[in-house]
Amino acid sequence: MSLIEKIDKTRVPKHVAIIMDGNGRWAKSRGKLRLSGHQEGAKSVKTAIEVCGELGIKYLTVYAFSTENWNRPKNEVSGLMNLLVSSVDREINEINELGIRIQVIGEMKKLPDNVRKKLQDAIETTKNNKKLTFIVALSYSGRWDILNAAKSIARDAKENLIDPSEISYELFESYLATAGTPDPELLIRTSGEERISNFLLYQTAYSEFYFTDVLWPDFSKEAFYEAILDYQNRERRFGKTSEQLTK
Ligand code: IPE
Ligand code: IPE
Ligand code: MG
Repeated sequence: MSLIEKIDKTRVPKHVAIIMDGNGRWAKSRGKLRLSGHQEGAKSVKTAIEVCGELGIKYLTVYAFSTENWNRPKNEVSGLMNLLVSSVDREINEINELGIRIQVIGEMKKLPDNVRKKLQDAIETTKNNKKLTFIVALSYSGRWDILNAAKSIARDAKENLIDPSEISYELFESYLATAGTPDPELLIRTSGEERISNFLLYQTAYSEFYFTDVLWPDFSKEAFYEAILDYQNRERRFGKTSEQLTK
């Protein structure tokens, strides 16, 4: 039986989030420049999108660039920005034809003008697509997201648009960058690192974490299937006892 056949299609996560890590090490081990690792990594994004289509996963969020990644060498940052623009240019028609909606979460005002404009066009072009929502976390960090929500709530409270006594989880979530998107059931991190690196801090409160040594450029369909199978073997208790769940 092949890996994909082992997957229970009725129990796939609705939302998978991925910390795509290991591009630099992939390149280094081949004596190549870090940027070639990022280029190869872009191909794995395409593969992951295909798997979402096959399995009926409705939301895929990828961590493409963190707030902290602005501190990388200038040439790597600009290389990543250029790669983003060229990837959108190359893939946008196919993405749109496949019914994929693009969203971006993160501090967009920090992005170079041409990158922001390119992304805004892609978001606008694909906004009515329903098959898969592909969310790119760019200039994103979980603490930024929470702080930004808190600031917006404070502003709206000051302007009497909301009453502080009515601030619920639901209202708070509507101020997060991920408003309208269900929390990820599964969070994958490649490259053997086992940390959250300031990704979706609020939204992963009850996510299942899956770590693999595979470097992101090597993350194949089979590697993704393995992650889903592992997820399907977990018991998600949400604080209850195992016995309560089987009743
Ligand atoms: C992930 O790969 C991509 C980004 C953070 C942009 P890295 O560039 O972090 O690769 P390693 O961790 O150095 O191998
Ligand atoms: C996290 O990877 C950010 C992205 C994958 C975009 P890093 O490689 O930047 O994380 P740390 O610094 O090793 O934790
Ligand atoms: Mg890394």
